[in-house]
Amino acid sequence: MPNLSPSISSQQAVLDQLRAARFGETLLPDLAPDAYARGHAAFEARSDQRSLIGDHLAARLANRDTGPVAVLSVGCGDGSLDAPLAAALVDVLPARPIRYVGIDPFIGSTTAFATALADLGRPGLSAEVHTTSFADAPVSGLFDVLTFVHSMYYVPEVGSALRAAHALLKPGGELLVLSAPRGALNQLVDVLAPPVEGHQQWFSEEIAAAFADAGLQTEETVTLDALLDLEAASDEVLDFTVQARLTPALRSLVRDYLDAVSVLHPTSGVPHVPHPVDVYRVRRAV
Ligand SMILES: C[S@@+](CC[C@H](N)C(=O)[O-])C[C@H]1O[C@@H](n2cnc3c(N)ncnc32)[C@H](O)[C@@H]1O
Repeated sequence: MPNLSPSISSQQAVLDQLRAARFGETLLPDLAPDAYARGHAAFEARSDQRSLIGDHLAARLANRDTGPVAVLSVGCGDGSLDAPLAAALVDVLPARPIRYVGIDPFIGSTTAFATALADLGRPGLSAEVHTTSFADAPVSGLFDVLTFVHSMYYVPEVGSALRAAHALLKPGGELLVLSAPRGALNQLVDVLAPPVEGHQQWFSEEIAAAFADAGLQTEETVTLDALLDLEAASDEVLDFTVQARLTPALRSLVRDYLDAVSVLHPTSGVPHVPHPVDVYRVRRAV
């Protein structure tokens, strides 16, 4: 039974139990790309974050005065966020050529992204996709908007990714990095997830510091306060949540932890986990 208001002491107690259970153990296995993508889709279906992000980005993308518009989505996944954004952009800027580019290292995702954008059937929209990491992507041209939506966690070095992304902006173009803080939810990742290619996952704290180190001045950071329903979530969703393949014993502790950090949803009254996302924005000088 969840605590109906989060208790720091019970949260800390379960986190300590998880740390103790992991102490001296070999790393948990990471998620294969197809399990990651399935877990991600099922996870998003339990949250209102996707629609908050969609509305926020649609407003920013539409804010282009004249000429063709070019958008680059880094870590585009299966296009379930970008395809509706591309459609909204075509609707709000009719008769303006729109170039929409996705980058993702997982071929299952880039194939789905290409299909989702092609299925829109919008004549003014040209879509491209690159199946590779951001560092290796052969991207040409400059962009009005470049997004990293929940993908900066995985780059080898945040500062060099930010500088490379900034260099791909047109004058006046915007870089938007959406990332989660190391809040209640992602403390689980810190304790349980194996490193990604030798590094920890980077959350908002590291990203904010890397913007400052790179000398890139961010506009005021916006936080979108989403809520996530993980009650009775499947094992696949829990594995995605912690970014590792859990054992049954760890999964049971993770469920206890999620109960401890849950709050009541203001309308349904059902326990939900706070699931905020920070939006960092940098505009390239004109
Ligand atoms: C949480 S998903 C987000 C997908 C999509 N942006 C969305 O919001 O639905 C993170 C994505 O980043 C991709 N990714 C991981 N490492 C990456 C890298 N080095 N460069 C670009 N994308 C990467 C993953 O394959 C995955 O599709």
